[in-house]
Amino acid sequence: MTKKRPGGNRKTRGGRVTPKGSGGRSSLARSSTAILDRVSDGVRGRPGPGQLPPGIPARTGITSRRIGDPIEPGLVSAQREVPASIDRPSYADRPDGSPPRYKGSNVRKPDEVQRMRVACAMAAQLLIEIGEQIQPGVTTEQLDEFAHQRCIQMEAYPSPLNYKGFPKATCTSVNEVIYHGIPDSRPLQDGDVVNVDVTVYVDGVHGDTDAMFAVGDIDSDSLRLCRVAREAMYAGIEAVRPGVPINVIGKAIQSLAHRNGIGVVEEFIGHGIGTAFHTSLQIPHYFVPSATTTIEEGMTFTIEPMLTLGSPRLHLWNDGWTAATNDGSRSAQYEHTVLVTSGGAEILTRTSDGRCAADAFPVD
Ligand code: MF3
Ligand code: CO
Ligand code: CO
Repeated sequence: MTKKRPGGNRKTRGGRVTPKGSGGRSSLARSSTAILDRVSDGVRGRPGPGQLPPGIPARTGITSRRIGDPIEPGLVSAQREVPASIDRPSYADRPDGSPPRYKGSNVRKPDEVQRMRVACAMAAQLLIEIGEQIQPGVTTEQLDEFAHQRCIQMEAYPSPLNYKGFPKATCTSVNEVIYHGIPDSRPLQDGDVVNVDVTVYVDGVHGDTDAMFAVGDIDSDSLRLCRVAREAMYAGIEAVRPGVPINVIGKAIQSLAHRNGIGVVEEFIGHGIGTAFHTSLQIPHYFVPSATTTIEEGMTFTIEPMLTLGSPRLHLWNDGWTAATNDGSRSAQYEHTVLVTSGGAEILTRTSDGRCAADAFPVD
């Protein structure tokens, strides 16, 4: 994807405190999991730009669906280090953070699955611990610093750090920010909703999970949005079984969202995961007729739908990472890493005693 946006190339690394929004990467593709152009090219009947799926309100600029003031970029602190004693993915030490192209299988070997169980359980535990700290006045920077230090304590590398140049250990996306928000100095406010996305790399594999958290008391539309987003993720997971095309996942998510009058973001998708953070496997969260890759036992991938109260159309901030809704309406996302089993999908991003943030902090 080559969508260019104006803005400089100022980086947030190197010890400076840089206002977010003031420059940075300019290509949507560089900041994304995988952009759906490849999947959606040539798909007939799919709404094009400016056409909305049935049930999605048209975008009318800043609409009444906005709740609260727009999120303004805060200050981003200097990039933190991870001790050399901790095993790191290869992109961690590349100047541009680019990962090598993944050429391996999308089916995991038994020992890889075993290692992923450990990484995914760590990610789940970390996300719960972050959730326990969320309250008005806490900054996303403070949450990120905690996550960074806790990863080090667990002898894990925080996968987002330097991934394609991302400057922090976690992504924190508040209110109308959909995805890839950069932790910063903005204190969370009563009534905000925040998504925290953690991925850890340990013993050569990644585990990736995210959830929504209510800050103080939130309005009823935000509650409904988060509830539907969580249900949509679980509906997508329920649809997984070996032998069926990958597009059953998006179909389940989209139909649930649209039944509830909620939009589905198309630009960011779920992904295969294992020894690579993002493998070649793509998991759209809406129905793509041509996405017919057969689901196989032993595959590991994420399901991470992003849903919006208003239109799902989005733009990137000038930092080149932060994706926000065009109409200012709120967005919600939940993510689990799953393993395809003989009978369906097993959620890997749970603690050894079965807990996860999506269930421990239900926003409903
Ligand atoms: N964890 C995100 C995902 O769900 C990806 C974050 S990549 C980063 O795929 F570079 F933004 F950190
Ligand atoms: Co992911
Ligand atoms: Co994630």
